[in-house]
Amino acid sequence: MRHDLPMMYVMLLHLASLLRLRNLRAPHPALRQTGLQPAAAKHKGPTAMATSASVSNLFQPAPQTRARPLAIARWLEVVALLVVGIVVVGGITRLTESGLSITEWNVVSGILPPLTEAAWLAEFVKYQATAEYQIESGPAGMDLAAFKFIFFWEWFHRILGRVIGLAFLLPLIVFAARRAIPEGYIWRLAAMFTLILGQGALGWYMVSSGVGETDLTDVSHFRLSAHLLTALFLLGGLVWTTRDLRRQARDPAARPAPLTLGAGIVAGVLFVQLLLGAWVAGLNAGHSANDWPLMNGRLVPETDWAQGVVWTITHDPFLLHFLHRWWAWVAVAALVWLARSVRKTDRFASIAVNAAIGTMVLLGIATVMSGVSLWIAAAHQLVGALTVVATVWAMHTHGLARR
Ligand code: HEM
Repeated sequence: MRHDLPMMYVMLLHLASLLRLRNLRAPHPALRQTGLQPAAAKHKGPTAMATSASVSNLFQPAPQTRARPLAIARWLEVVALLVVGIVVVGGITRLTESGLSITEWNVVSGILPPLTEAAWLAEFVKYQATAEYQIESGPAGMDLAAFKFIFFWEWFHRILGRVIGLAFLLPLIVFAARRAIPEGYIWRLAAMFTLILGQGALGWYMVSSGVGETDLTDVSHFRLSAHLLTALFLLGGLVWTTRDLRRQARDPAARPAPLTLGAGIVAGVLFVQLLLGAWVAGLNAGHSANDWPLMNGRLVPETDWAQGVVWTITHDPFLLHFLHRWWAWVAVAALVWLARSVRKTDRFASIAVNAAIGTMVLLGIATVMSGVSLWIAAAHQLVGALTVVATVWAMHTHGLARR
């Protein structure tokens, strides 16, 4: 079943070339009125045109008149919304320890959940072979009903992944076939689709670290952070691109916004905070203290450096928790600076950045003090994604103002 994906991809590309051929055969309305034929058709005839139209033509930029920047921006905004949704569902999947409940990766046959009691039992038996079941959930008394609950979250997360893949690919093919994608955007969109496909593979690579021959009861925190940060990077790319396209819809001569040094530094600071957060989450390090601002009554946690600096700084739950809660203030300073610098040109973006970072800190503290309660931690993850949206929006504005 792993071969389904390339097969579907090829079929969709065929569909695209068919759409494109139909498009080429139909004369433009303006030509229809005058009774004229398109120049190429006069020389070659429709059959020759059809033969020469190939999948590679999809990647020709749109002539100004056919470009649909606003429609593409709206479509990408919907995809961005879906990405925010999947980030939250991914967080809930992790927080409910549901991630290892589906032990296989079947792109097509995995769409349907088990439909009979026998099928459910078969899935449960596969999960019982994991270290997570044998060491944690089994001894804790997990029954079939509890298994169905964790299965649901992992299944829903994977379904959303498929929905995002199709919600990106199908309109991409239609816009490309109609040559509606403005110049300079085709490769950006292709890169984003590659990221989406990569996320599917990365998600499985992450899950595979916790199933099969392993005594790990959780997935690798490095793989988890790569999966989360790639999703957030894709989200940032979607937001930046929609901002560029909306501008182009207002002014066809508008060029994409540049990335300024200041905005790049802010992005770097935020990236470190997101990475630390993902490691804290992946190592369940939120549970290492439930007081704030002190950690277990100390300002700086006792740290055992015996395994070396690099290992400790990438694996020690206490140290990573400590770094995440204090690097937050560097992130606050950077984002407040960004918000202030775009205040005059884009008040909305400025308010959004300030609101997002303030809420983020409050939710972070609440996550700690509640002992990582499910819904508070999930809200922390949701606002994390919204912080990325607001920050990238403001970074884009920053680029335009400095042009
Ligand atoms: C600057 C603002 C902050 C940002 C952008 C941020 C970002 C993140 C991210 C992306 C995660 C991973 C989410 C997940 O996978 O569930 C996370 C987890 C976490 N963050 Fe933050 N965070 C911020 C501030 C804070 C603060 C101030 C604290 C505590 C005082 C905190 C405590 C935590 C904890 C305990 C977790 C792990 C929660 C879990 O296991 O789900 N965060 N953070």
